[in-house]
Amino acid sequence: MTNSDLFLTNTHPALRRCWHPVARSSEVQTGPLRVMLLGIPLVLFRSQDEIACFVDRCPHRHAPLSLGACDGITLRCAYHGWRFDGEGKCVELPALGPGAAVPSQARLVPVAAVAERSGMVFVAPEDPVAPLGHIVESDDPTFEAGELPAIRARASAGLLADNFLDMAHFPYVHRGTFGADEAAEVEPYEVTRDGWAFIARREHPFANREDPGVEQGLRPLVQSRRLTYRLDAPFHLQLRIDFVEAGGTNVIGFFLQPESEESCRIYTALWRNDLDGDANSMAAAIKFELEVLEEDLAVQEAYEELGLPLDPRAEVHTRADRSTLELRRVLGDLVRTVCGD
Ligand code: FES
Ligand SMILES: [Fe+2]
Repeated sequence: MTNSDLFLTNTHPALRRCWHPVARSSEVQTGPLRVMLLGIPLVLFRSQDEIACFVDRCPHRHAPLSLGACDGITLRCAYHGWRFDGEGKCVELPALGPGAAVPSQARLVPVAAVAERSGMVFVAPEDPVAPLGHIVESDDPTFEAGELPAIRARASAGLLADNFLDMAHFPYVHRGTFGADEAAEVEPYEVTRDGWAFIARREHPFANREDPGVEQGLRPLVQSRRLTYRLDAPFHLQLRIDFVEAGGTNVIGFFLQPESEESCRIYTALWRNDLDGDANSMAAAIKFELEVLEEDLAVQEAYEELGLPLDPRAEVHTRADRSTLELRRVLGDLVRTVCGD
């Protein structure tokens, strides 16, 4: 591996062989949508209910296809009106008149794979080496879903993943939200590798101020919560929080789209089974998570160099950093698999 392979930037070539979020499902309507992924402009549109995704460049004069128009089946280029189907094949070339043969090279450049899952659209630009992550609660009707607005930040996807998995920053970065309830010391916890994914589990005491059972004398204020983090490489993250005494489960999905060297789009979604269909409670939960994210971004956007160091000797690690060290191992293995040693 060269030195540049040891620093995972948002446009590292190894990331082309991975799944990435590119939009919320609700953002892809009939019209074409331009998105950026790994510095590559892509166009998304719905063709007969399937989402089609191609490089956003017409094969004719390289105009952005996202300027064009869709009819639910095909996409017409805004420049000379060439029309393409959901497979990327040109099916009409107006300047040659009706019924004319279309040159076989008049095809759009496809991505390797597209999938819709957990309310998101995911794309793998080239044959993916790691499977797409899955949040089981997103398919469970006993959980209600909520979405934070997507946020664009000057940030590294690798560092944002690192931050999501980090256990030791709560009392400092999140002093204004939930950090005050956390102990600064991180007791030893377990990390389990699972192929291109890993899970970190931790149970810790916290003050459950939202539990009405505390006021009623049914339960103590200080209760336990079980945190289960999972990363699916490269940047598909989830945190499941189980409230041990009071019951109830909160799941946070965190999906990172490395748009370009300096830009990342961040999608956060919540699934909860403890709100009894109360829209106000979900709105309050979303507002709270937004505040938490803004606290994190204040640090993440201040990094001068945007990338995740993969060489374990580049930083100082402690036992409190087991989960974020595992992130570097998984992503280092990914870079080695795709780019060679
Ligand atoms: S550039 Fe698209 S049809 Fe000419
Ligand atoms: Fe945080």
